[in-house]
Order: sequence, then C-alpha cells, then structure tokens
Amino acid sequence: MKKLTLITAIIIMTSFLFGQSFQIDIPGKEISPGNYKLSSKSDFLKQPYLIFEGINTQMRVIWQLNDTTAVCEISWGADSTYNLGNTSTTEYGVDHQHGHTINGLTPGTKYYYKVVYDDAVFEASFKTAPSDNASDLKFFVYGDTRSDFENHNLNSQAMVDDYTADPDFQTLSLFTGDHVFFGADEDDWTDNFFTNSAPFVRKRMAEVPFVSCLGNHELYDSDYNLDYNTELFGKYFPFPYVERRYWSFDYGPMHVTVLDQYPDYYQLLPLEGFLDLEQLEWIEQDLNNTDKPWKVIVMHEPGWSCEGSSSGYSHPNNPDVQNLLQPLCEQFGVQIVFAAHNHYYARACKNGIYHITTAGGGAPLYDIEEEFPNVINTLKVHHYCKIEIEGDTMLVTSVKPDGEVIDLFYLDQNNRPEHLLGFLDKEDGPGDICDVNITADGQITSPDSVGYYGLELVPGYHEASLMLDAYCTIESTVQIFDDTETALDTMLMICTNIQKFDDLGVLKISPNPVTSQAVLSLNLSTSIPIEICIYNTSGICLKSWQFKNQQLGEKTYKLDFKDLPEGVYFCRLQIGNEMVTKKIIKVK
Ligand SMILES: [Fe+2]
Repeated sequence: MKKLTLITAIIIMTSFLFGQSFQIDIPGKEISPGNYKLSSKSDFLKQPYLIFEGINTQMRVIWQLNDTTAVCEISWGADSTYNLGNTSTTEYGVDHQHGHTINGLTPGTKYYYKVVYDDAVFEASFKTAPSDNASDLKFFVYGDTRSDFENHNLNSQAMVDDYTADPDFQTLSLFTGDHVFFGADEDDWTDNFFTNSAPFVRKRMAEVPFVSCLGNHELYDSDYNLDYNTELFGKYFPFPYVERRYWSFDYGPMHVTVLDQYPDYYQLLPLEGFLDLEQLEWIEQDLNNTDKPWKVIVMHEPGWSCEGSSSGYSHPNNPDVQNLLQPLCEQFGVQIVFAAHNHYYARACKNGIYHITTAGGGAPLYDIEEEFPNVINTLKVHHYCKIEIEGDTMLVTSVKPDGEVIDLFYLDQNNRPEHLLGFLDKEDGPGDICDVNITADGQITSPDSVGYYGLELVPGYHEASLMLDAYCTIESTVQIFDDTETALDTMLMICTNIQKFDDLGVLKISPNPVTSQAVLSLNLSTSIPIEICIYNTSGICLKSWQFKNQQLGEKTYKLDFKDLPEGVYFCRLQIGNEMVTKKIIKVK
C-alpha cells in the first residue's frame, strides 16, 4: 500500500453501499523428440535456427558445428522437395558458425528448408513476414528464460502446439531479454539456451524466427562481472542494429522498436538499465518515421511492474522508461511495451500505454508481495504471450504452458484507454473484493483478488457504480485527475460495513439472466413505499415503478425487459430511505 499514499482521492464508502513437421534425420540415431543424441562429428553444436532481419522477402538461417570446419548445404522450396534454391555454406567467424540469408521470397508465404552437414539432415519450415499492407497478424512474446531450458522447453512446446493448431501463429517470436544467466560465458549459451536437450525450443526456433533484445544478464561473465563488450549476444543474434544492440523493423501492420538499456556506463549497483540520449533521439526519429498502425516496443527493464529483487539486488521500476520513454510513447502513439527482468507476469497501463512484464520464460519466479501503481493484473507464473491483431484491434492473451489463460485484454485503435486504474479496499463486511462489480461510463469490471481494477476513463468526472453482488451498491461521482503520477492514484474506494442485501428484504430477482421478464420478490417486514428503477450502464433510468404503502409480507413485482437490447442493466430498489441495486443481464 505504500504507493497509495499519494492517492488524490476519491470515493470513500463507509456505510450503506450498493505445419509442416520438423524433423532431424540422422541415420542410425534416435530421432524421437526429446531424445536427441547429437554428439558425433556430424552433429550440430547449435541446430539451425531462424532470425528475422527486418525484410519480408528473406529469412536468415544460422547454425554452428562442433569444433569442425566443413562445408554444409542449405536448400529451400515451396515444399519438401526444396527445389527453389540451394547453396553451399562455409563457416564464418572463429567458431564454426554457418549461416545463409534466403532471399527473393514472397511475403506471408510458407517455405521449407533443409540443412545438410555430412550425414546429418535437418528439415524445417517457416513463414515469411506479412506483406506491407497486411492488416492481421499473430505472434508470440516471452522472455527471461535465463538458464532454465526445461521451463523454456515447456513454453516452447505450448507455442509449437499453438502454431500447429493455428498455422497463422507460425510467424515471429519476440523475446524480452535475459536469454541466459551469464551471457558473457560461451558455455551458458551452448549448454542452456541452445541445448539440444530442449527439443521444442530447437523446433520452435527452427520454425519461428526470433527477435530479441539485450537483457542485463547477457553482459555478465561467470564471475558476475559486467562485460560491456561481450560479443556473444551479437554472435548468436546478429540483427541489423542501428547502434549497439538497438534497431527497429516493420512486420505487417506492426512496427517494432527493439531497445538496448545497457550503455557502457551501466553499472551493477544500482541495478537499473539506462536509456542514453543518443538512443532516445533515435527512438524519437524511429517512432516519428513509421506510419504503421501498431507500434510496439521490446526491451528488458519495465517502467511499471511490481518491482522485485534478485540475489539481494532490487529491481525498481525503471525511471528512464517512466520519465524518458513514456512521453515518446504517448507522443507517437505506441500502444504496448513488452519487457521482462522481474520474473512474473504483470500488465500495467499508464496513460493509455500498456506495459507488459513477460518474464516467465523459465527464470526462477519472484514473489509478488506489494501492490504497485498502474498494475492491473499480475501473477507469479511461467508463461508466454499470444498477440492477435485484426485491423484496429489487438488481443493479448497470456497463458501458462499448460494452456491456462492468466490474462486477456483487448486494445482498440478507436477506443484508446486513458486513465484507468483504481484500487478498491473493503475493510469490513461480507463478500470478497473480487466480487464487486464496478461500472462507469458503460464499462464494467471487477477488482482482482488484491483490489486493483481497470476502467478506461478520460480525465474528468464520471458516474460510477460499485456493487457487491447480492449485497449492496453505492453510486457516486468519481474524479479522474489529469497529470497525476499514476492513473491508479486517482481512484480509491474504501468499502466498509457493507450491508447485506437480504437485510433490506430482497429475496431474489429471477431469472437472471433474463430474456423478457424477471420477477423481483420481496418479503417486507414493515409497511413502506417502494420504488423500482431499471438503469443502463450509463446510469440512465430506463423504466421505473412506484408503489405506495406496500403491506407486510411477501411481494412479487414483474420487470419487463422485452423492449430492451441485450446487455447489462441495474435494478435499483428503494425501500423507504434504503436502497439496493442488483445487476441484471438481458440475453436473447
Ligand atoms: Fe534482467
């Protein structure tokens, strides 16, 4: 609650409330998934994998041999005859790496490729990036695998299942940094991130091109010293960097800006990434120059998350992201920023820009002990994100490897979120905090188990309704302030002494959901006037009935919904000076 001390105010409720298969074919060897045995001279030290270099007519394939200088062959085609082209490759660099960029491809098209080294044959497929005028797109985002290839493998297996069931997901994997624990140590890359003991990682990286950003762990050697000049990240991910390790690219309807928060004056303590002025100037130009409808940023350290700590080093929300990057996001219409670093899932929103911490790729998970501004949803769990763009909308679904959805939300180009957060604290009374229904400006939401909730409200005054289902409701005006430190701080609702719905004599409203007519049943303990009103979610009374001097005993009242469209309504019942509200859903 420490972040809420700045709360500016608000409502206090104190009493009455209302594909193509991937295979490795090595003669005489076990080839079943999960049991790779690649130790002979004909093995790949790092099996072929794909990186996206920003051009939708080409694909880069990279692999590395075991301490052997040899010629390999790569061929590709529209099917497994691989008859569109082929070439021989020789190693480059000093570590037996091979690579080839396949050119002249058609955007948004599936291709098949084969890499042959001695008696090893490696076959896989990929899909080129969409055409420039594409409006729809699906892709993956995840990060912070560090050195846990087993959980990385589980996440990858789920992604493989996803694009096997829905081939439109065989597109792109964005990665938010910290691939390994000691990124300046060659063995960590070989033994963990690229290990052949993680077959689904190998399969996915062979079939879905990868784009990743630099994490702080990419700079550490095995003694935990910073090595700013380590070449290992760039060795395995040689994207066309503008400078250091930042660059950008278009992918169908999306522009992706990949940031490097670790200039050479980055330091271990305090453990914070930096955005240097040179990079900020480039970001401004980059975002100003794109006309893509969707603008996405990929980086490592988040601006708004639930913070955390690792090995005794704190992980504060990154001040450069808050103070320097956020204004550029707001100015140039970036919709969503993906980061990692804090090992959990968190969705935050600051002035309409979503900040997603997706750091559940495999790294040890952090406890989420505190509540932080702008965070709508958070969970300590290994996970990855699935993104689906359809024209003006983006659907973000965050899932565990077993398929359980942990978060889901839409972004709409035509209805951009503004200030949106509140925190609801119920100190007393029956019911759970997450049972409260909150309505304002036609939007309905519920707090999470902690009390955070999101409403996409612009600054100003709004009529809001908070209802603890089956108990009571409060209706009041809330003010959303402009230029506050966080939108979260602008709404606080403290529910105390919630009065039970039944205490007011309301037995039930049924059926609910209703199709044409519902019946409200009361058991009055005193003779009293009654008023019943049906409100829509904008707070407009659509129908009302008044009954004078109702007698004691059980009463029933018919509520006609025939002429109302499907949706959510509120039935407010006033009994004398007391008032209760109950949500009613109208269906066909
Ligand atoms: Fe990190």
